[in-house]
Amino acid sequence: LGEQLTDRLGRVHTSLRVSVTDRCNIRCFYCMPIENVNFRPREELLTFEEIERFVRIGVTVGIRKLRLTGGEPLVRSKLPRLVERLAAIEGVDDLALTTNGILLAEQAAALQAAGLHRLNVSLDTLNEETFQKISRRTGLQRVLDGIFAARQAGFEDIRLNAIAIRGLTEAEIIPLAEFARSNDFELRFIEFMPLDAENQWEREQVLTTQEIRQILEAAFCSLEPSPRIDPSQPALDYHFADGRGRIGFINPVSQPFCSSCNRLRITAEGQVRNCLFSTTEWDARSLLRGGGTDEQIRELVRELVRDCVSHKHPAHGVGEVDFVKPARAMYQIG
Ligand code: GTP
Ligand code: 5AD
Ligand code: SF4
Repeated sequence: LGEQLTDRLGRVHTSLRVSVTDRCNIRCFYCMPIENVNFRPREELLTFEEIERFVRIGVTVGIRKLRLTGGEPLVRSKLPRLVERLAAIEGVDDLALTTNGILLAEQAAALQAAGLHRLNVSLDTLNEETFQKISRRTGLQRVLDGIFAARQAGFEDIRLNAIAIRGLTEAEIIPLAEFARSNDFELRFIEFMPLDAENQWEREQVLTTQEIRQILEAAFCSLEPSPRIDPSQPALDYHFADGRGRIGFINPVSQPFCSSCNRLRITAEGQVRNCLFSTTEWDARSLLRGGGTDEQIRELVRELVRDCVSHKHPAHGVGEVDFVKPARAMYQIG
């Protein structure tokens, strides 16, 4: 066993979320502003070489799981080439990607060939009108085509992420669950977090597991908790008693999973964060571009893990009076 990134609470950090772009081809209201999006200039984005180097260094201190995010990762040009480079790194056991699915039909086969292991696709609704209300763009059919193209391309573990927002999601719960059950996808409901760019988040909009579960059980059959295989996974997993379909709940607001969180993140411009809600970042890009040594970069990662306790506010304080919203919105974090 090599070096591990252990913080003062004993959490061993093995997972890294790599944002490859802050750009996106849709404009979900829970994430992005509708217009005048403040995208970073392209030259600020880490190159594939820089990302690969950072990951290789991360692996030497115990990173084992990677997830590519954005923005929308598939708008980054030639993404399969990055996947190929990362998949080839010895020590990377899990390589996944989170996408909105719009460009998935075009890229699924190339991503599979490049060595991507797993895909999570955002799917908040099966209704085109609602899709447009949420994403302020058209494209639901492309997303659905993308999901099936991914399965066709050989992706087995496809998880569907649906945001859970009161006043919006209630009507989607049954159709989404029906879709997941009949096509054998895992469906996960994610509580709305105050990471939207337009500052519209309110505590009352968070739709809870209990409410969703009640609707599902009334429509289908009882949901039984599934065994927890990996305690660092954010979702609480359930399966329907009739054996058809799996449902997960990601409850960062009502049941924060910080105590088992083992994730680090690097933004598209090379700033490393130890929490989605952290208000501090460590500048890896300056080291990567400015002649920093591998050891200096390793030390930066060690330092931000040592610092975890002060910055990973237990429960983030979301919705409390002293909650400090990070300066970045979701699309700028990843
Ligand atoms: P797997 O469980 O490995 O499939 O990945 P994941 O669930 O971490 O990845 P995904 O990108 O699908 O994340 C789903 C949602 O979980 C995200 O959209 C976030 O809303 C939430 N999430 C992911 N990571 C964090 C985190 O570090 N903190 C909090 N509070 N929420 C997170
Ligand atoms: N709260 C919760 N989840 C969010 N996502 C984006 N913004 C938010 C937010 N404010 C999720 C989307 C998508 C994933 C990439 O991030 O649901 O599935
Ligand atoms: Fe784009 Fe994802 Fe943000 Fe929606 S949640 S606007 S798909 S980055």
